[in-house]
Amino acid sequence: MNNESGGDKARRVRDMFGTIAGRYDFLNHFLSANVDRRWRRACVREIEKRNTVPNPGILDLGCGTADLSIAFSRLGPVIGCDFCEPMLHVGSAKIAAAFSKRICLIGADALALPFVDASFDIVVSAFVLRNLADIKSGFQEARRVLRPGGLLGVLDFGMPRIPILAMIYRIYFQRILPRIGKIFSGVEGPYGYLPDSVQAFPPVERLKEIAEGSGYDNVEYRLLTGGIAILLTGRASQD
Ligand SMILES: C[S@@+](CC[C@H](N)C(=O)[O-])C[C@H]1O[C@@H](n2cnc3c(N)ncnc32)[C@H](O)[C@@H]1O
Repeated sequence: MNNESGGDKARRVRDMFGTIAGRYDFLNHFLSANVDRRWRRACVREIEKRNTVPNPGILDLGCGTADLSIAFSRLGPVIGCDFCEPMLHVGSAKIAAAFSKRICLIGADALALPFVDASFDIVVSAFVLRNLADIKSGFQEARRVLRPGGLLGVLDFGMPRIPILAMIYRIYFQRILPRIGKIFSGVEGPYGYLPDSVQAFPPVERLKEIAEGSGYDNVEYRLLTGGIAILLTGRASQD
């Protein structure tokens, strides 16, 4: 996997989420004991605090089954994009069931978005950055479609900072979670790949530097649940 090209990684990630799309929501909430919902709500609150635009246009990158899109739709109209059709199908059914007219889902690659520059007031993303073939390109493409001064909010996994919590978490993450994920999804899939991808992911201090070097100001981060998740926010710099 180390010598994998960008195209190979994208294909592998897309296929992997395609195989578990129908069980993704259940597994997500079950394996995180529902804490993932709190993390998405924290992301909405942080962005809401910083937002000054009424009814902002929002893009959810790698929206998957649309949980973050749904959480953000109370702030403004949301476009959710993802390159995995089966994940979008699950998301579309949830949006239809909620009768939401403020969310539209489209098939698109986060690294080559089908939008002109400065199209959005807010770009958000949850648990996607780790999966991209190139993190910096992801930040840059999000910056391109943000208007200057627009807001970025990124959620992803981190590593707990408290040693005892880190130890317990490692055991859960590396030994227990992939097995439960496999039992319920029937495939190795993302739950086998998750621990490796999180360990290969840069620490949040480095992510902050990458964001700052990709056209964002006021980049800040918060550790959630002792560092199990990270929430990074920034503002697209004025051109
Ligand atoms: C872990 S899921 C997260 C889904 C959703 N954001 C959530 O909070 O549950 C990662 C999602 O990112 C999508 N993804 C990964 N790389 C992508 C890319 N380059 N372009 C678009 N979507 C991508 C996958 O298809 C998958 O649906």
